[in-house]
Amino acid sequence: MFDTMTLTKAFGALCGALLFFLLGGWAAESLYHVGGDDEVQGYVLITEDADSEAEEEEVIEVAFADVYATADAAAGERLWRQCQACHALNGTDGVGPHLNGVVDRPKHSVDGFNYSDALLALEGAWTPENISNFIANPRAYAQGTAMSYAGMRDIEDRANLIAYLATTE
Ligand code: HEC
Repeated sequence: MFDTMTLTKAFGALCGALLFFLLGGWAAESLYHVGGDDEVQGYVLITEDADSEAEEEEVIEVAFADVYATADAAAGERLWRQCQACHALNGTDGVGPHLNGVVDRPKHSVDGFNYSDALLALEGAWTPENISNFIANPRAYAQGTAMSYAGMRDIEDRANLIAYLATTE
């Protein structure tokens, strides 16, 4: 009556059931833990996030000079479109100050342009790296800036665009 096939099937079904209960129990336990240890887990998560963000920033800082060294100004010219609504390259100022010659120009140095306090508080010059950090996330770089531009995420795009700006006078 119980041939090998039937036994094998029965055994298989039993294993399947066991596995199901094991996994179910494990899932329930982890859910329970998350609920029970809210504070501790939240804290650990935040620390990990802060760590990985810091690491990411370091990587970006180190990498920019390398990326810029091989930047492609022609590719950057196509990205200029994103700035054109507010900036010109012919020495005239619009919503934003003219950007011809902006690379290595002292910050907020265009005569007659009405900079925000956020921008006036910045020191130094618009080195390629500073421009890169600014346009990656303008509001983070100069909190309260009047430049309402969301940011250019891609580091190669930023390097290419800045290489293009460096060709202007
Ligand atoms: C929506 C309009 C707008 C867009 C789009 C925009 N900007 Fe601006 N930008 C401004 C304004 C306004 C300022 C002055 C900011 C202030 O005073 O806070 C500014 C300032 C700057 C400055 C500082 C110049 C100086 O003289 O100190 C740089 C550099 C700059 N923008 C680069 C760019 C680049 C590159 C892009 C394109 C990726 C871009 N901006 C897109 C409006 C814009």
